[in-house]
Amino acid sequence: MSEASPTASPVAVADQGAVRVITVNRPDKLNALDAATLDALRQAFDAAADDAGVRCVVLTGAGPKAFVAGADISQMNTLSPVQGRDFSQRGQRLMRGIETMSKPVVAMINGFALGGGLELAMCCHLRIAADSAKLGQPEINLGLIPGFGGTQRLLRLAGRAATLELCLVGTPIDAARARELGIVNRVVAAAELEAETMKLAAQLADAAPLALRGIIDCVNVGGECGIEEGLAYETAQFGLMFSTGDMREGTGAFLERRKPAFEGR
Ligand code: COA
Repeated sequence: MSEASPTASPVAVADQGAVRVITVNRPDKLNALDAATLDALRQAFDAAADDAGVRCVVLTGAGPKAFVAGADISQMNTLSPVQGRDFSQRGQRLMRGIETMSKPVVAMINGFALGGGLELAMCCHLRIAADSAKLGQPEINLGLIPGFGGTQRLLRLAGRAATLELCLVGTPIDAARARELGIVNRVVAAAELEAETMKLAAQLADAAPLALRGIIDCVNVGGECGIEEGLAYETAQFGLMFSTGDMREGTGAFLERRKPAFEGR
């Protein structure tokens, strides 16, 4: 992860068992997201989605300082309005793709997660931050607003007050405050971050893949519709689980007092 080379591709990929680790790999630029990096991330996530051997994804940044310090400011500085719109859509497509992916994605936040970096973390299903991490939406300081979904996902994660404060004031917050606001799920000592994240990822990789997918789909759908539609969707997904071998395996293993072996069938 942090050993990725600054001269290599902007995204590095490595497997640990059924966990795919995707690392934004521009440490000399604090892993800032330029167009090429957004495209490389999209390819990496598409490949992870299509690979049946991958059951969980961990997303992180190379180097000791940053998860991702934002969209690439030097690239944005010269964009025309139409190019700016395209850049926003490029980021949003990537991040919506991650959010709606059928496998759990865990953001391992190893340092600065600013602007597009916090937006990238927020589209993941779970977020674990080092206690040293700093998170924020500082676009206001550049005369900009978040453009990769930040105003919308932060609003859904942390509510209006926190979203308006982070985006209007622009001052980053520490990991403990992000935990209080519900922006990250867990905060761990920086030295423990990788071990704790990989432990969680291994647990997710062992879980029933079709049930994980059902939960992600229900939360994505339910977050955007009324309670009746959300409940009906949950019921349909629940019923679908009874067509899976994994449900027979999970319930059977419980009754036989053994550990289940889920295969995603
Ligand atoms: N876009 C492009 N380059 C970036 C970047 C970004 N978002 N964030 C950092 N970098 C680059 C710096 O320009 C510098 O490159 P250089 O060595 O070629 O000059 C390198 O990464 C290291 O950053 P530096 O600013 O020297 O590190 P620092 O420890 O002094 O400060 C930050 C760290 C995160 C506080 C600072 O880099 C920063 O404020 N970055 C921008 C954050 C931001 O506004 N993000 C939202 C963008 S929409």
